[in-house]
Amino acid sequence: MRSYAVAALLAGAAVASPVPQGFDFNAIDALDPVATPSIPIVNAAAAQTTITFSATLAASSVSSAVLANPSDTSLKMVKRVDDSACAVQPAADDTDENFSSNTAFSDAATDAVTPDGWTLAYSNQAGSSEGVYGYMGYSILDTYDTASCAAQCDAIVGCSSVNIYFERDPSIDPTSTCSNPPSETVIKCVYYGGPVTPASATNLGQWRYDFHVVIAGSNGYVNNSIATPPGFQPPASLGNAAINAPLDCGGHDTYMGVKTFTAGPFDAGLCAAACSSQSQYNLAYPPQGGVAQTCQFFNTYVLYNGSQSVGQYCALYNETWPASYATNVGQWRGEDHFTVGYSYAFSNTTGGADQPARCANPASP
Ligand SMILES: *[C@@H]1O[C@H](CO)[C@@H](O)[C@H](O)[C@H]1NC(C)=O
Ligand SMILES: *[C@@H]1O[C@H](CO)[C@@H](O)[C@H](O)[C@H]1NC(C)=O
Ligand SMILES: *[C@@H]1O[C@H](CO)[C@@H](O)[C@H](O)[C@H]1NC(C)=O
Ligand SMILES: *[C@@H]1O[C@H](CO)[C@@H](O)[C@H](O)[C@H]1NC(C)=O
Ligand SMILES: *[C@@H]1O[C@H](CO)[C@@H](O)[C@H](O)[C@H]1NC(C)=O
Repeated sequence: MRSYAVAALLAGAAVASPVPQGFDFNAIDALDPVATPSIPIVNAAAAQTTITFSATLAASSVSSAVLANPSDTSLKMVKRVDDSACAVQPAADDTDENFSSNTAFSDAATDAVTPDGWTLAYSNQAGSSEGVYGYMGYSILDTYDTASCAAQCDAIVGCSSVNIYFERDPSIDPTSTCSNPPSETVIKCVYYGGPVTPASATNLGQWRYDFHVVIAGSNGYVNNSIATPPGFQPPASLGNAAINAPLDCGGHDTYMGVKTFTAGPFDAGLCAAACSSQSQYNLAYPPQGGVAQTCQFFNTYVLYNGSQSVGQYCALYNETWPASYATNVGQWRGEDHFTVGYSYAFSNTTGGADQPARCANPASP
């Protein structure tokens, strides 16, 4: 299991020439790509982290070595491929098509109960999620149990969404001499520290030699709650839109720059730390003859490039802007469409939630 403890990467400008509106593409272009996890295609037995030993295969290796070179005292163990499972031919109905049309899988997916406190993001897809922010590992379940999958996510710090599905896996690793072994059905529960989205359920499987790994009954769930960092009010949920703040009543820019993270999980606490530390710094080093600006409000969201997550974005402001200013639902740059998801706005508890702190703003758009 990888640790995200020190993995969060802080990038982006602080206050230097902040761009008032839209995405800060200078900061975005400087980002490392979000790691693409590869969830191993393995049979259930191999998913355990034990080292297997076959006494029979080892003995047969020794025999071959002795017969080949009887005077050799240091025997080189010849690795033998165990193709014995190939002696069992797949049953006639053990095909990718049968798997994909198996109503037991679609029924399990469509009948599954959405766990309390969670939202169904998508149901009964033939693809698992990919490109989701904050991959946090997976478990293999005995049954298609959404409650257990969600409960296991709850037990992982930072986990906020899951993808549960049936996968047609090879019962042994396909090889050139055993190219299409019998299948086995593996139920996977994959954990993410960012939201799974309908657009992410695009991983349709893969070919391993002549064996077709396919997916069925793929459901995605997202935890409804997001933790509120200390010192901030519970968030305003802005859905798929980001704050696009105008100048304040005095014609001044309230935007204090952006902080971005590319290593999950998504955590409003990261923005809160950046916001508070920025205030602390500015108060310690006030501008000569000017007033130190404190960060009173931030908008955090997952930035997407197509269906691929780019990172967690935190836009900092020196005053609170109401949800009516959440009007940035995306921007095109050339062929690339950058969009927003999982957007939340947090105000300093002393700042007044969802309303301007000091001077009145122009009328909402
Ligand atoms: C956005 O995605 C396109 C391809 O889909 C890629 O070429 C481009 O580099 C990406 N840009 C960023 C900033 O992630
Ligand atoms: C397997 O698939 C074939 C063709 O798609 C179909 O005729 C057969 O009834 C299926 N068998 C089962 C057990 O679903
Ligand atoms: C959802 O997330 C919150 C905040 O991170 C956590 O306290 C809770 O246990 C999670 N599960 C549910 C069902 O709310
Ligand atoms: C926000 O910053 C601008 C520019 O420095 C300043 O004019 C304005 O008064 C600040 N607003 C608040 C509420 O501090
Ligand atoms: C809230 O703002 C005040 C200044 O008005 C500041 O002292 C305090 O640290 C801020 N709280 C947080 C959590 O940043």
